[in-house]
Amino acid sequence: MTGKICGTGSFAPSFTMDNHDIAKLVETSDEWIQERTGVVRRHIIREETTVSMAAEAGKRALDNAGMSAKEIDLILVSTISSNVVLPCAACEVQKELGAVHATCFDLSAACTGFVLAYNTAMAYLASGVYQNALIIGSESLSNLTNWEDRGTCILFGDGAGAAVVRACDQKAYIPVTHSDGARGAALSCTSRYDKSGLAGNVDPQEWMEDRYLMQMDGRAVFKFAVKSVPQAVEELLEKNQVEKEEIAWYILHQANRRIVESVAKRLGESIEKFPMNLQEYGNTSSASIPILLDEMNRKGLLKRGQKIVLAGFGAGLTWGASLLEW
Ligand code: COA
Repeated sequence: MTGKICGTGSFAPSFTMDNHDIAKLVETSDEWIQERTGVVRRHIIREETTVSMAAEAGKRALDNAGMSAKEIDLILVSTISSNVVLPCAACEVQKELGAVHATCFDLSAACTGFVLAYNTAMAYLASGVYQNALIIGSESLSNLTNWEDRGTCILFGDGAGAAVVRACDQKAYIPVTHSDGARGAALSCTSRYDKSGLAGNVDPQEWMEDRYLMQMDGRAVFKFAVKSVPQAVEELLEKNQVEKEEIAWYILHQANRRIVESVAKRLGESIEKFPMNLQEYGNTSSASIPILLDEMNRKGLLKRGQKIVLAGFGAGLTWGASLLEW
């Protein structure tokens, strides 16, 4: 027993900021951002929250799958930017959708989160514990972004993507996943609750301290991504005895156009197999892969039987690749 994606959905806030808007906040330019990252604009929450976006993306995925929320027995939300600490975002989504039979929990693995949520759901389906899983990546990174740091604020955006995975009898593939906590400082964000919350006297000045917002060594993360993602993909194909020619699409975490191009080059694969939508959303962490998957699904680009590689990488450090048959 394994699982198959039978529906996808996504949601992006209607408010957008393009590179010219960012250039009003920090010293940068549309030209610089596009050349170094490929990002043109990003969607930013106003009324929306991580939970509301997750619920909407989940609802759209269920509609796409032609399933009712009551049929779902597992909801996994991957997020690093939930607006709720307790109860978890997945339980809040359950409440919104009326998925009364679902077991719900969150998963925190940053930009690798959706790949790990997919693997987790697949393991549960394979073991027969659950039949129908709703997996969601949802992020409000604008809440964690230092809007005074031009090295990071140009990159990120908000949004959510979801997939319904259903148990079925077909070939199971083994995923590849790696973590290296020793290199975690390359991309970090300290919890606002680490001391002031415990003391119960949150100082508004301290609240906005840099360390409570995302900090990144951009060059280190870039180097890590362009080396480890191709290695993980090679390892994945080797483990599953699948040739590159058999892969229809490589759906990579949408961090940076140059990273995606470099991965394609290192793998010796055509860039045509690497769809991108980061120009529209920026880096939405765990939401980026399911948003792209949903766009491709709705455009009719994904055909039954196609082999697709999902690959994520990011804070932790964490990275991994999974193989699925559409
Ligand atoms: N606008 C204009 N200039 C900028 C800038 C900006 N937004 N950000 C940095 N610069 C400047 C730097 O100050 C530096 O100037 P200097 O040479 O005078 O010191 C110069 O541009 C080069 O900086 P550097 O940090 O080396 O740029 P880069 O080519 O590495 O690009 C990133 C920076 C962040 C775009 C790039 O490192 C990157 O994309 N890294 C990966 C980040 C990522 O994807 N993270 C998430 C992974 S999940």
